[in-house]
Amino acid sequence: MSSRALITGSSSGIGFSYANYLKNKGWYLDLVSENKERLKKSKENLNYENASFHSEDLSKNESIKNIVDNFQTPDLIVANAGVAINGAIGQLSEQEKNDAYYLMCGGVIDLIEGFVPKMIKNGGGRIVIISSIGAITAMPKSSIYSSIKSGIYAYGKSISAELKDKNISVTISLPGYVRTEAHKRAGLDHLEKKIPSWMWVNAYQVVKETEKASKNGKTEIIPGKVYRFTKPFLKFKSAISIWQSITKRN
Ligand SMILES: NC(=O)c1ccc[n+]([C@@H]2O[C@H](COP(=O)([O-])OP(=O)(O)OC[C@H]3O[C@@H](n4cnc5c(N)ncnc54)[C@H](OP(=O)(O)O)[C@@H]3O)[C@@H](O)[C@H]2O)c1
Repeated sequence: MSSRALITGSSSGIGFSYANYLKNKGWYLDLVSENKERLKKSKENLNYENASFHSEDLSKNESIKNIVDNFQTPDLIVANAGVAINGAIGQLSEQEKNDAYYLMCGGVIDLIEGFVPKMIKNGGGRIVIISSIGAITAMPKSSIYSSIKSGIYAYGKSISAELKDKNISVTISLPGYVRTEAHKRAGLDHLEKKIPSWMWVNAYQVVKETEKASKNGKTEIIPGKVYRFTKPFLKFKSAISIWQSITKRN
């Protein structure tokens, strides 16, 4: 029997690439995104009979409740949906902050906590959380995003240890700059020109390295050689100031 994966944020970027990767391995897929037009396009592009497409606003807890109550229990959860929310201190509204926190942190926790007892009952599985290198790096003018990604990273690390003897692996992926639609959608187009090409990783690379890490039971992975090389330097003042000038938000 084929395995079943639940992927959030599957209409584009890393989530779509994950769906495509698992399609090629014959998985059954439950794919969740919100925007109906984009969902339809992704359905046409994926062109896969063993995939079900669902439109849910994952920044709302009733959507997560619906998924946990009604979807088949997955063997793999890929908690990926997200937005590159950005803004200087005080610029984001209460609503924007709450929605982003639930979409990329609180809702991910509710989704995982909703399914873990059922996964244990089924004998185990894998959980992948797409966080960001922003979880471990200062991101001026994206402090809310960085704190959200940091929160879900801490949660993932703790449950990874907690679930070790339950046959459930938890892997947190911390990508750097990935060529997707995220920056354009967040009004950060200038980064596409400003950030040198060697700092961009493609979505397929993120998926390939993240899947490998998950299958090997690794708790975290920074996809892309360039970021693995850079990470140890990010504790030095001079490296931090170079990083921040390259990635500066307008
Ligand atoms: N791109 C990067 O440089 C980068 C770096 C580090 C981490 N990440 C993380 O990677 C993940 C995927 O981002 P991406 O770069 O692949 O961006 P993307 O191409 O913009 O894809 C984002 C996905 O999330 C979905 N989504 C957004 N808000 C949603 C909501 N309220 N309810 C349901 N689905 C929602 C989108 O669906 P709709 O079609 O409905 O909008 C889309 O499928 C995010 O968590 C992001 O923070 C990205």
